[in-house]
Amino acid sequence: MPREIITIQAGQCGNSVGQQFWQQLCVEHGINADGNLSDTATLGGDRKDVFFYQSDDTRYIPRAILLDLEPRVLHSIQNSSYGNIYNPENFYIHKDGTGAGNNWATGYHMGEQVQDEVLDMIDREADGSDSLEGFMLLHSIAGGTGSGLGSFMLERLNDRFPKKLIQTYTVFPNTQDPDIVVQPYNSLLSMKRLTQNADSVVVLDNGALSRIAADRLHVQNPSFQQTNQLVSTVMSASTTTLRYPGYMHNDLVGIVASLIPTPRCHFLMTSYTPFSGENVEQAKTVRKTTVLDVMRRLLQPKNRMVSTNPTKKSCYMSILNIIQGEADPTDVHKSLLRIRERRLATFIPWGPASIQVALTRKSPYVPSSHRVSGLMLANHTGIATLFKRIVSQYNALRKRNAFLESYKREPMFEKTLEEFDDAKEVVQGLIAEYEDAENEDYLSRGNGEGEPKGEVGDKRVG
Ligand code: GTP
Repeated sequence: MPREIITIQAGQCGNSVGQQFWQQLCVEHGINADGNLSDTATLGGDRKDVFFYQSDDTRYIPRAILLDLEPRVLHSIQNSSYGNIYNPENFYIHKDGTGAGNNWATGYHMGEQVQDEVLDMIDREADGSDSLEGFMLLHSIAGGTGSGLGSFMLERLNDRFPKKLIQTYTVFPNTQDPDIVVQPYNSLLSMKRLTQNADSVVVLDNGALSRIAADRLHVQNPSFQQTNQLVSTVMSASTTTLRYPGYMHNDLVGIVASLIPTPRCHFLMTSYTPFSGENVEQAKTVRKTTVLDVMRRLLQPKNRMVSTNPTKKSCYMSILNIIQGEADPTDVHKSLLRIRERRLATFIPWGPASIQVALTRKSPYVPSSHRVSGLMLANHTGIATLFKRIVSQYNALRKRNAFLESYKREPMFEKTLEEFDDAKEVVQGLIAEYEDAENEDYLSRGNGEGEPKGEVGDKRVG
């Protein structure tokens, strides 16, 4: 039985990332740009129906809903080579076409106004699946649409589908070199919803993505297309166990349950190695890759796709390595022993100190120049340092009450700015929880409680 996942992409960033993700999934599953299976795609054994369904004429169609408040990106997707794979009824472009002007409150309010139409699309997709597992939201949190409309959708999805999982791939802005002056406001308001309404958030930030593009791929000032290729590589690797199922981690709930020991600490970091010609054209070197090389590189901070400043106490709450290619369980076992001997990873003092490993197949239709590649999904307390930076940048703006006029024009902030204070409190609570998790007595002090989703909770207890 497929465990279907519906993808919702919102705003410029969400839709641009989504465009590359779907293109990559098509290539990996042997689906042509017209949605038909390629004549050479005869090997089978993959599970296409998690992310695609088949139309009456047997073409594969992504379970994707594309939302934007301005037409530019969605029109360019419709006019691209893969433009016809999507269901045309699943594009929502706001009739005003003005965008949200980098204002979270505008995106949120417009979400409220158009919710009936958008929820209709989501219900239609949900009704079309046999055993819906959950939703994936792709968005950024610095602008207005991905952040504000994305936040609104997270709240509604949670109300409407309380038992379904919600995972997001969330692009955080570059906090060291900001491109939007009000990004701390938009990020903080979004963080509240990511904390309260998502089950799992894969955090990627544009600072780290640019750094990796420069270091690993030798591209200075990478274009969004280049950084999005990094993101879509992470997305495709993190869904391989769902699409090429083995006997573990073959549904989203299995992955989430194994990575998230306490419900609120659900923000995940990723590393991927090696990036190479098969992922991004500009990567120059092909190295020898063994399982140990890959697992060791995954633990190196420079390979993380999120910018944090870990402290001495920062530690892993959990790690799942998804290893693709020619990997033998004995190599994995030896590598794990070596990593433990060398103390390459420090874990929380109150839980199991082990790296989980999923060995998965690679797409047979994508040639690879490496024997082994790997993705690390990790729950690490150091992520709180990114959230701290957002709060401190928010404080600096708010102290001067800078740029608040456009927020005050929207209904949520017309009378009071309390929502900002509330969001800050939620994010500070989250930071405190991550810091607490570094202590041995974390669980005994009543931490780690919350209300996991029915299905996740059930799994976790079992
Ligand atoms: P409005 O433009 O206000 O309607 O909202 P939006 O959600 O469409 O804005 P956008 O997605 O452009 O959000 C701005 C943030 O996303 C900034 O931090 C940009 O650097 C980042 N961003 C925009 N497009 C991309 C992209 O294609 N890839 C990546 N990695 N980041 C992007």
